[in-house]
Amino acid sequence: MSLLAGKVALVTGAAQGIGRATAECLADAGARVLVADIDGEEAQAAADVINAKHAADTALGLAVDVRSQVDAEAAVGAAVEQWGSLDVVVNNAGITRDATLRHMTLEAWQAVFEVNLQGMMLVTQAGAAVMREQGSGSIVNISSISGKVGLVGQTNYSAAKAGVVGFTKAAAKELAHRGVRVNAVQPGLVDTPMTSGLRNDILQQKLAEVPLGRAADPREVATVVLFLASDLSSYMTGAVLEVTGGRFM
Ligand SMILES: NC(=O)c1ccc[n+]([C@@H]2O[C@H](COP(=O)([O-])OP(=O)(O)OC[C@H]3O[C@@H](n4cnc5c(N)ncnc54)[C@H](O)[C@@H]3O)[C@@H](O)[C@H]2O)c1
Repeated sequence: MSLLAGKVALVTGAAQGIGRATAECLADAGARVLVADIDGEEAQAAADVINAKHAADTALGLAVDVRSQVDAEAAVGAAVEQWGSLDVVVNNAGITRDATLRHMTLEAWQAVFEVNLQGMMLVTQAGAAVMREQGSGSIVNISSISGKVGLVGQTNYSAAKAGVVGFTKAAAKELAHRGVRVNAVQPGLVDTPMTSGLRNDILQQKLAEVPLGRAADPREVATVVLFLASDLSSYMTGAVLEVTGGRFM
């Protein structure tokens, strides 16, 4: 597949899980990929795996904390300096700090908003500045089904992930006339380090809600990101695609 031949992509939170699968999937489709993560060593390790499979200059790992405007701008600058353009941004970095509202601390509330929403704004702002001038680009934001239905113990995460949808639609309207599309993906239960610590009874309860009867492999989210990143979705902007195995349809 060469859906992204000659394109340059930046994926945040790409050292593991959905972000890593996405970086690999975009590279398989021909893109060069900046693998950005708060853990710079793991980001480079993920980039090394991509480079071992493709040409040596296919991926570059970089320590990027999406909460920082300086880091967000440096990540975009690194991609442009390395490969001359920026065609795809995948805002994937995210964290959970679950607690019922009764026990929710301000720290847990702010931590989730800073990574999931503020980080998305900062990286999008920096990336869109390049894409606007180019007259083209695709930005894909990772929300969650938690932002559609609200999940117990996740008032912070559900609110932030619902915020991702509002952010996506507003940015889509602002950037459309410059040829830049902005869409979102709402995964359901995905088999990643984020969910590997779930208590078994809670995991079974969640699985029972999934018509397809299983968690997603991260690559099954990555291929939908690829669709939105590529020209296959050239007439889509401001859309929210659910990748949930039918859960909460
Ligand atoms: N796993 C699921 O079931 C699921 C479901 C719906 C949505 N999501 C969303 O998908 C995205 C990826 O989730 P995942 O399951 O792969 O998570 P994960 O915890 O496996 O990976 C997240 C990555 O983000 C990085 N990261 C954390 N804070 C960062 C920061 N400040 N700056 C840069 N990188 C940072 C981590 O180092 C890690 O590599 C998140 O936005 C998450 O909310 C996940």
